[in-house]
Amino acid sequence: MTTSDRIVLITGTSSGIGLAAAVAAAGAGFHVVATMRDTGRSGALTAAAEAAGVADRVEVARLDVTDADSVAACLAEVVAWHGRLDAVVNNAGSGRVGTVEQDGLDPVRAVMEVNFFGVVDVTRAALPHLRASGGRVVTVTSVGGVVGQPFNEAYCAAKFAVEGFMESLAPVAATVGVAVTVVEPGAVASEFVASQGIDLPALLTAAGPYAPALDAYAARTRTAFDQAQTPAEAAGSIVTALTAERPPFRLQTSDRARAFVGVKLADPDGSAVQGMTAGWVA
Ligand SMILES: NC(=O)c1ccc[n+]([C@@H]2O[C@H](COP(=O)([O-])OP(=O)(O)OC[C@H]3O[C@@H](n4cnc5c(N)ncnc54)[C@H](OP(=O)(O)O)[C@@H]3O)[C@@H](O)[C@H]2O)c1
Repeated sequence: MTTSDRIVLITGTSSGIGLAAAVAAAGAGFHVVATMRDTGRSGALTAAAEAAGVADRVEVARLDVTDADSVAACLAEVVAWHGRLDAVVNNAGSGRVGTVEQDGLDPVRAVMEVNFFGVVDVTRAALPHLRASGGRVVTVTSVGGVVGQPFNEAYCAAKFAVEGFMESLAPVAATVGVAVTVVEPGAVASEFVASQGIDLPALLTAAGPYAPALDAYAARTRTAFDQAQTPAEAAGSIVTALTAERPPFRLQTSDRARAFVGVKLADPDGSAVQGMTAGWVA
């Protein structure tokens, strides 16, 4: 089978890494079902796909990862239309800057809904079809899925949860021919920060005893984003996870991201853990 016969579904393709991954995967020869929660926001993707000469391999579909009916309907449509699904890329996500004492639980639950339960639901719905095709689950987590970062308690907790979920699923999925990879970007110049609608002066005013720490964190984050990757650079790692003969469990999108998680990880590509747990289900 050639890549042009292969169907990959990507979540959150209206902007940023998801948009770039949709174009890059189509450029690598896949037929891409580029999903977004509001298909009225597909203009940037369509323009990028046309500019790259791959518009005929990019199909836009509606999928809100927090809406179980939308997940089920989209997966059913893809399989009814194409008869197969070869890979799913869990990319949709959103951040949150704050600290729990002041935020309360609601934002924590909201962040978990998109970044964790959304990934779980899309993966659950895709797995029967991926078993049939010997396919792949590729999930964009973050360096924040390995290293907890100040004022990112909810977001990092959600990404840690996704990493634990996928690390547990990987050896089980491998027994039925499905490869699982997590892709860990560092800072990427996407809509990620803007879409959080952060009003820093207002946050600082409301931060009370945490204001000096938040101010220092904001300054450090600005520096990190001065050196951000482009979405296309980060998307390159997604294409690697889709096309490598034996994709690793864990893939950082840059040397900078690898060095950052290296502060904590003794097993940066996940092969040691996978080698151990695969033996439990052999
Ligand atoms: N940018 C970074 O520095 C960075 C670093 C590490 C990891 N990441 C991760 O990379 C992934 C992509 O983020 P990005 O940087 O490309 O940011 P982005 O430009 O804000 O893109 C996020 C995408 O997720 C979509 N989305 C949000 N909630 C959704 C939902 N309920 N259902 C479906 N789609 C939804 C957004 O759609 P709408 O347009 O409808 O909001 C948008 O298309 C995320 O998982 C993020 O956590 C980003």
